[in-house]
Amino acid sequence: MNLLNWRKEMSLGIEDIDRQHYMFFEILGRLHEAAVFESHISVLKGLAGDLCCYASLLFRGEENFIALTQDPNGRSHLMEHAEFQHRVAILEDVKILSDRTKVRDITEELGDWLESHISGFDHSLALRVRPAQERVTIMRPAHTMELPRLCESVAS
Ligand SMILES: [Fe+2]
Repeated sequence: MNLLNWRKEMSLGIEDIDRQHYMFFEILGRLHEAAVFESHISVLKGLAGDLCCYASLLFRGEENFIALTQDPNGRSHLMEHAEFQHRVAILEDVKILSDRTKVRDITEELGDWLESHISGFDHSLALRVRPAQERVTIMRPAHTMELPRLCESVAS
């Protein structure tokens, strides 16, 4: 079982991506906790919405790096992102959210999947990005503008 926390061992050495992975685990962990503590459906719904939104943002940022570095594993990497987004989107279904045991199981699976994805595809991408990082950071996604509430919680 995943602890649903970003850990330093997951760092790729690229601040933007690490920050986004941290935030994703933060939201995932909150949703998991809300399911464990039987929180009101409105709380779960809000967190599931944040999670879907953040998954899109996270993957868009990485996919910019994939395009810039012409990663030969890019196609497989994009397919993994698409599959993951599909699994995250399941959590927006109110019937699923009403079953707290199912939400707990899905969030744990997503945490395990993301950890495995980071150590595989994302790590491989980071190795390609680092030499060109100065050029790439100019194009970093402006996530602080899009999700100020979520980003404030990272800073605190
Ligand atoms: Fe990725």
